[in-house]
Amino acid sequence: MDRVHSVQVAGSDPRTVEVAGDQRLLDAFLRNGVYLPNSCNQGTCGTCKVKVLRGIVEQPTPSETVLSADEQTSGYVLACQSTPKSDVEIEVPLDAGCGPRHVLRDLTGKVHEIREVADDTVALTVRLDDPLEFSAGQYVEITVPGTGEVRQYSMANPPRSDDHLEFHVRRVGGGLATDGWIFDSLAEGHAVEMRGPWGDFVHDADADGPMILLAGGTGLAPLKSIALHALELDPEREIHLYHGVRYRSDLYDVEFWESLADRHPGVHYTPCLSREEGFGRHGYVGDVLVEDFDSLRGFSAYLCGPPAMVDAGVKACKRRRMPGRSIHREKYTPAPVSESVPA
Ligand code: FES
Repeated sequence: MDRVHSVQVAGSDPRTVEVAGDQRLLDAFLRNGVYLPNSCNQGTCGTCKVKVLRGIVEQPTPSETVLSADEQTSGYVLACQSTPKSDVEIEVPLDAGCGPRHVLRDLTGKVHEIREVADDTVALTVRLDDPLEFSAGQYVEITVPGTGEVRQYSMANPPRSDDHLEFHVRRVGGGLATDGWIFDSLAEGHAVEMRGPWGDFVHDADADGPMILLAGGTGLAPLKSIALHALELDPEREIHLYHGVRYRSDLYDVEFWESLADRHPGVHYTPCLSREEGFGRHGYVGDVLVEDFDSLRGFSAYLCGPPAMVDAGVKACKRRRMPGRSIHREKYTPAPVSESVPA
C-alpha cells in the first residue's frame, strides 16, 4: 500500500492534511473538511488548480485548455487528478475565496422510488442510511455497480436534515449508467453507493435580490434545489425559472412548478421548447430571457445544462447588463466513457 504523505497549504493560515499515496489531493482535503475550489472532479474544468511549491505529485497530463503550458511549467496541477509521491506544500490561488465546507464522505442508501417523469427521463429518489449535509446546487458521484465507474448527479431536493436525495436522470443511448443500469435493472430497494457532496455551484444565501434560473434538460435538478432553498429562506423571493428542452415530451415537473408559482407569487415559470410550438414559449432559454427583460441589473443568475446552452445564457445575462460576478454556472461535462453528466 502507498504510504501516507503530508500536504500543507501555504499562506497566513497554513493547514496540513494527511493524504494516502493513491488518494487524490482534492478528495483528501474535502474529506478532512478543508475547502479547495472544485467543480467537475474529472480534470476538465480547471477550477481545482493549485501550485506545487515543494515536493512531488503525479497527475495524468492535463489538456492545455484546462492548464496552460505556462501553468504546467510553473508547477500548477489539478488537485482532483493529482496524487502525492512525497510530502508536499501547495499554494491555492488568492482569488479562490471560500466555498461549501461540507465534509466529503462515502454514502450508502437504497432506492426509494424511480418515477418516469418524461420521455427517457426518471426522477430517482434514494433513501440514505445516514443524512447528508450539502449546499443547494451540489452533486454526488454514484457508483455504477461492477464497473469501477462513477456518474455525477445533482441533488434536486433542498438541503435539509432528512435522508432522501432526489436525482433527475436522462437516458443516454448506450450509456453505461443509464442504458446499462438505471433504465435497465435498477429497482426500488436496490442498494446504491455514492460519494459526496461535490462542487462549488451553490446557492449564495447572502444575495437576496431577484434570481434568474436557466435550465437545459435535466440541468433543472440543481436549480430546483436552489429555488426551494431560496424560498425556504424567503417565501416572497422573486425567482424566474426558464426550463429549456427540445419537445413537449421532454418537459417534466410542469405541475410542480405551476403549483409552486401558485403558492409563491414571486415565482415565475417559463417552459421553452426549441423544436416545436404549442406549449410555453418557442425558442432557446437565453433568447426568451432577452425578450422578457430590458435590464437584469440587481439580479443574480444560476445556469445549468449543456455547454452551448450555458454559454448562450451567460451572454444573454450580460447583454441585459448583469455583472459576471452575479452569474453562477454549471456545465454538463463529458463522462470518461460515453455519457454526459451530471444529472
Ligand atoms: S479540473 Fe478539477 S475540479 Fe474540474
